[in-house]
Amino acid sequence: MKKVIYETYGDADVLKVADFMVNEPADGELLVKVMAAGINPVDYKIRNGSLKFIYRAKLPRTPGGEISGIVEKTGSKQSKFKPGDKVYSMLPISIGGYSEYITVNEDLIGLMPENISFNEAAGIPLAGLTALQALRDKGNIGKDMKVLVNGGSGGVGMFAIQIAKAFDAEVTAVCSEKNISFVKGFGADQVIDYEKEDFTRLNNKYDIVFDAVAKSSFDKCKSILKKEKSAFITTVPTPPLMLRQIINPLVNRKTFAILTKPQSKDLDFLTGLIQKEKLKTSIEKVYSMEEAAQAHRHIETGRVKGKLVIEIKQ
Ligand SMILES: NC(=O)c1ccc[n+]([C@@H]2O[C@H](COP(=O)([O-])OP(=O)(O)OC[C@H]3O[C@@H](n4cnc5c(N)ncnc54)[C@H](OP(=O)(O)O)[C@@H]3O)[C@@H](O)[C@H]2O)c1
Repeated sequence: MKKVIYETYGDADVLKVADFMVNEPADGELLVKVMAAGINPVDYKIRNGSLKFIYRAKLPRTPGGEISGIVEKTGSKQSKFKPGDKVYSMLPISIGGYSEYITVNEDLIGLMPENISFNEAAGIPLAGLTALQALRDKGNIGKDMKVLVNGGSGGVGMFAIQIAKAFDAEVTAVCSEKNISFVKGFGADQVIDYEKEDFTRLNNKYDIVFDAVAKSSFDKCKSILKKEKSAFITTVPTPPLMLRQIINPLVNRKTFAILTKPQSKDLDFLTGLIQKEKLKTSIEKVYSMEEAAQAHRHIETGRVKGKLVIEIKQ
């Protein structure tokens, strides 16, 4: 089988397609024929070595933290799944999704919603679980809360807007002018164009500020957080924020850095929203495995609208 690998850290040119043996699934695992793999910023951050201080990847490594596919074989007879099931998953950091086949623990797998394609499903788990776990588990989101999503046009941001709306919150999304109609299409009640207005200087007060693109900071957002029971949540931890998290039990304006956990029960929650048509995705471009370097150069621009996906031609 083919998979994308890199044997040294470096720029996107280190990515290449190579042949490997297909592994047998161990007890509790599934062998999944991958139909598509989602692309996320973490894929290039690990590849270029900028995350070496927190995660030293074993080389050669295959990138890719989320997939959709078809169960080929189950490792145990009592599996919840059967060959032929259409599934999707956020993968643990040790497994790379840009691959024709993967073996993965079945606790990390969810049945794919029937109303979306493999390409759409592949780009949902990682960014979707990030948005869900940030807003629900850190922000305690609820009805009528005022939520601001910075970076509403990115992978995480587009899901965050819709998840916040599904919890009946009032959502303000921040994006550039070219993406205003895009974020409105996901249900944002208000939109702030970051090229024209600095959202941190407005008089509005929010229960949750979710900095999905990690371009702001708690210090800048403090004045727009409500004085009681509010939360600033970011996707990229910084040392000052990690320190401030320690005093959360003592303060009203709490700070959180999210570290997304792959888990099928949360994936099932997203599936429910997708089936009720409360959550949808948008794919800017589909690449092949041979175009993985191009795909990485694209995500590295930081300008992707929605998601990028690698379609695995089986
Ligand atoms: N900690 C975790 O577990 C975890 C999990 C998932 C993701 N992350 C991190 O979360 C971040 C976002 O991920 P993602 O997948 O959403 O990224 P992404 O899809 O690559 O984000 C691209 C989007 O960001 C927007 N953007 C760029 N600069 C902006 C700014 N200054 N203000 C507002 N929007 C801006 C761009 O729109 P314009 O072109 O209009 O600027 C574009 O639509 C990444 O750093 C990723 O590594 C962390």
